[in-house]
Amino acid sequence: MGQTMVASVHVPVLVEEAIKALAVQPGGRYIDATLGGGGHAAAILEQSSPGGQLLGIEADPEAIQIARTRLEAWSDVALLINENFVNLEAICYKYDFSPVHGILFDPGLSSLQLDSPDRGFSFQHDAPLDMRLSPDQKLTAADIVNTYSETELAQLIQRYGEEGYSRQIAHRIVSERPLRTTLQLAQLIERVYGGRRGRIHPATKTFQALRIAVNQELDNLELALKQAVNLLGFGGRLVVISYHSLEDRIVKQFMQREARDCVCPPGVPTCVCGHTASLKLINKKVITPSPEEVQKNPRSRSARLRVAERLITQDEHYQFVERLCSSVEVKANGWRRPILLQKLRRAFLVA
Ligand SMILES: C[S@@+](CC[C@H](N)C(=O)[O-])C[C@H]1O[C@@H](n2cnc3c(N)ncnc32)[C@H](O)[C@@H]1O
Repeated sequence: MGQTMVASVHVPVLVEEAIKALAVQPGGRYIDATLGGGGHAAAILEQSSPGGQLLGIEADPEAIQIARTRLEAWSDVALLINENFVNLEAICYKYDFSPVHGILFDPGLSSLQLDSPDRGFSFQHDAPLDMRLSPDQKLTAADIVNTYSETELAQLIQRYGEEGYSRQIAHRIVSERPLRTTLQLAQLIERVYGGRRGRIHPATKTFQALRIAVNQELDNLELALKQAVNLLGFGGRLVVISYHSLEDRIVKQFMQREARDCVCPPGVPTCVCGHTASLKLINKKVITPSPEEVQKNPRSRSARLRVAERLITQDEHYQFVERLCSSVEVKANGWRRPILLQKLRRAFLVA
């Protein structure tokens, strides 16, 4: 993978709004599931000081290096893990990091990755069709483009790119492959469109579709959101910033479903699902960047922030506290248990 990511800077999006939505408080414990350049993480650490802790997760080994440098001053309270957030619960249990006061997802790509000339995410640079977040992943964009059938390609481009010309693009890909580089693919799509018109490059949607497929972005987000709920303490906040309608739909539907006591299909006379609400919606209306932010950072224009708060039964809460106590108790040889219990009750707002 490339060596050029450091040349660019990622400007974090909706920082103040995210901190407010997370209700960051001194001494709180937070997870940044998409560390990126560490911008949101730095703001969380500042706001949760003194006594705050942060677990940062980042799939891209190049990105986490940059975040490590940026967050060096907090190395005693920030644990940064090079992992995929699809393993969120396992990571938290491994590092004994739950329950938490808040979890932030800011998925997709950072400017560092988009602007990197050799990662293959952008058609602005000629690069191998790679698009993997991590070199540990097997499937690349070139594998998809060169091995999927025309029907599979058309479906993928339509589903993940919402591209109107998906069938024509898939047909052209199959007749011109093998395709090796981003520019080959971008120029092929330009030809399908009959040239470039308007501000948006015709390859934008296809590139988005390939990136989503390579990194299983939507499936991983959905799986991680379910795990996130299990890690939040009472009143803990789940905050998600999404950048396209497919992502936002997943977040919206997930939060709405989790905010309902019954999720039986309409028409079922009595509830048979046994579902109980685990979240309360905090913002009914999605939060978007101010015109000033969009002007300063045009890449923020499509950002949409949603926030929900963890509802928890008294039983679930005491299970959390017990788990926390026993893990800390082992380290403290048992003698601090009453003080810890008191502190934890206060931290998680239970009388
Ligand atoms: C928009 S950037 C986050 C920027 C960050 N909030 C900041 O302030 O710099 C998204 C980051 O999430 C990472 N990412 C995306 N999907 C991921 C996943 N499934 N697991 C872990 N990291 C992921 C990307 O590699 C990228 O660095």
